[in-house]
Amino acid sequence: MDDQVKHQRRKRYSGTYPKTYETRYKELNPDQHQETIQKVIQKGNTPAGMHRPICVHEILSILDIKPGQIGLDATLGYGGHTQAILEKLNFQGHLYALDQDPIELPKTKQRLEALGYGSEILTTLNFNFKDLDSVIIESGPLDFILADLGVSSMQIDNPNRGFSYKTEGPLDLRMNPNVGIPAHLRLLQLTADELEGMLIENADEPYAKQIAKSIRVHLESGHPIETTTDLSKIINNTLKHLPVSTRGEEIKKSSQRTFQALRIDINQEFDVLYEFLEKVPHALKPDGKVAVLSFHSGEDRLVKKSFQYYFRQGIYQEIADEFIRPTMEEQTSNSRARSAKLRYAIKK
Ligand SMILES: C[S@@+](CC[C@H](N)C(=O)[O-])C[C@H]1O[C@@H](n2cnc3c(N)ncnc32)[C@H](O)[C@@H]1O
Repeated sequence: MDDQVKHQRRKRYSGTYPKTYETRYKELNPDQHQETIQKVIQKGNTPAGMHRPICVHEILSILDIKPGQIGLDATLGYGGHTQAILEKLNFQGHLYALDQDPIELPKTKQRLEALGYGSEILTTLNFNFKDLDSVIIESGPLDFILADLGVSSMQIDNPNRGFSYKTEGPLDLRMNPNVGIPAHLRLLQLTADELEGMLIENADEPYAKQIAKSIRVHLESGHPIETTTDLSKIINNTLKHLPVSTRGEEIKKSSQRTFQALRIDINQEFDVLYEFLEKVPHALKPDGKVAVLSFHSGEDRLVKKSFQYYFRQGIYQEIADEFIRPTMEEQTSNSRARSAKLRYAIKK
């Protein structure tokens, strides 16, 4: 062999996809890629950088919005529900819209402004809805309130925010990155028992004990858990003994539930929802209406309990007997609608 011939390093295969989230998803610039967006929606998915509002028709029929009313959308997100409400208000009255996310809120505000919804009809506030009482000081009592709980598609799809086990990013999971600590630091604070409790209480995780133990063993042996992939790998390893026939599906579900449990903990989602639900009856006018869209049993239980409690107290005149589900058509066309449950209450 001619050792004069220098070893040539093989060029790295760069794959067929562009590398970054921004370049990978054409849909991120909705105005320029309408055709791509329509294709994604037809497949029952949500285009990256967008959020499709759920149960819009059902929510509007519950809230029965009239021009001139004053209302609150407690979870602005991409502004889909907000826009539908603003159309009903028809430039008369006022809508307050909150979101604790300081990254997405300005983008949505700009999008709505471009549609003609300026500060005379819409006030957007980077607030947590637990602080509803502060909003009421400015708005006065409300004709209606909407809360569409949980995370938006934009938050899940952005790897830099760490909400998804599917893409690598820092394990953060904060809806407001200016408040609290990221999930990778939170993991350092919890004992195996506490981790197990968190996985059970926040997500009914059947492998809670095993996953909690693996996380602690990993950390105590000096290995950091700093990224979404670090945590995903631990879940994969913990469940690798499961039968091949079910392993893939079980790992996927446990990963979803573990990330959900951690997200609920990091954002104190049950605490803030409880506080919000306690303040709602005091924020509504007589005959004022509230609608809440939730996405897992823990949330729905809190909403149901609160509505029933104030109904028994005679503060609500009517509450939903049962939760309302999106139509089958909506569930088929939007996979994120499948777990949605809608409840409402009307103040006396
Ligand atoms: C499911 S999305 C709402 C989507 C919106 N209805 C739409 O049509 O685009 C939930 C949004 O609520 C926000 N959020 C969640 N909890 C919140 C809280 N406690 N206070 C304020 N905003 C919150 C999230 O940041 C996210 O943007």
